[in-house]
Amino acid sequence: MKKTAAAMALAVVLAGCRAKDVPEEKRLKIGVSVYDSYDTFISELMSDFNAAVAGSENISLEINNAAKSQQTQNKQTEAMITGGCDVICINLVDRTSPRKIIDLAQKNNVPVIFFNRELVEEDLMQWEELYYIGADAEQSGVMQGELAAEAFQDMSLDKNGDGIIQYVILEGEVNHQDAIVRTEKCVDTLIEKGYQVDKIASITANWSRSQAQSRISVLIESNQSEIELIMGNNDDMALGAIDAYKASGTDRADWPVIVGIDGTADGLKAVADGEMYGTVFNDQKGQAQAMAALAVELASQKNTSKSEREKYIRLPYRKVTKDNIRDYLD
Ligand code: BGC
Repeated sequence: MKKTAAAMALAVVLAGCRAKDVPEEKRLKIGVSVYDSYDTFISELMSDFNAAVAGSENISLEINNAAKSQQTQNKQTEAMITGGCDVICINLVDRTSPRKIIDLAQKNNVPVIFFNRELVEEDLMQWEELYYIGADAEQSGVMQGELAAEAFQDMSLDKNGDGIIQYVILEGEVNHQDAIVRTEKCVDTLIEKGYQVDKIASITANWSRSQAQSRISVLIESNQSEIELIMGNNDDMALGAIDAYKASGTDRADWPVIVGIDGTADGLKAVADGEMYGTVFNDQKGQAQAMAALAVELASQKNTSKSEREKYIRLPYRKVTKDNIRDYLD
């Protein structure tokens, strides 16, 4: 996979941290809590994070699964802090409820890196040692709309020939910043590109492949054969739609255009196999490396002064189709 300049720079920073910034005598402890370790994107991000800190004898890593409970995550945070973590990385369960975590961290002077599930800016500004690593949700929605617009340059995909794109959106969790913004921006972009669109359904499938499959299966069974485009807020849900079409026995030529977001291993494979028209790459490796570099820096309290550090780090999204898929397959 090609690395962006930013990702390469971060990789270098991390390598630098490992080699010389961590004093030999001090063992650094990094604690992590993820909202759900069964989430495909998060589990891929965590394996990249593991890889980024692996190999350093001076770092010990503790990873907890909050299993979709904010209460559990609050308890885990308390345990990580009393257990001596120098820095904690939090993938919030409820991005509107970071208060307890922030209070605990501030009281004990333990920096926090929030990632992927974005808290509101007002909360991030509560204390100088709070940071966020992720990506710009709007960019992913716009890019997904652009991918769909590009696909429909071939008007034979307008199956009923009415000049209007009949579409379905598969939405992630209600209240997740990515679900809200992607849903809005992908459609806005299609319209800005001059397409007329007609929403058949907007279905919440909570980022889940199996939920998406069962919901799309119902649509197929209820004879919604007019669906021409399915936009999944993430790859897993787009893959669920593909599963539904396969299970229904619908001729491949009659499938709608399907687009996703993330570039997970299975998502990229579906693009390579021509089952998904395209996806928007959500740079989990870049995010993991940025988080590892910042965590090491915060834990060792070295280098830049607090006031010089960026509170937000956002890695850029990239469009992936069959034309550039080779750059993304290892
Ligand atoms: C990803 C989803 C993931 C969600 C978890 C999003 O940025 O695109 O695949 O389920 O984050 O918070």
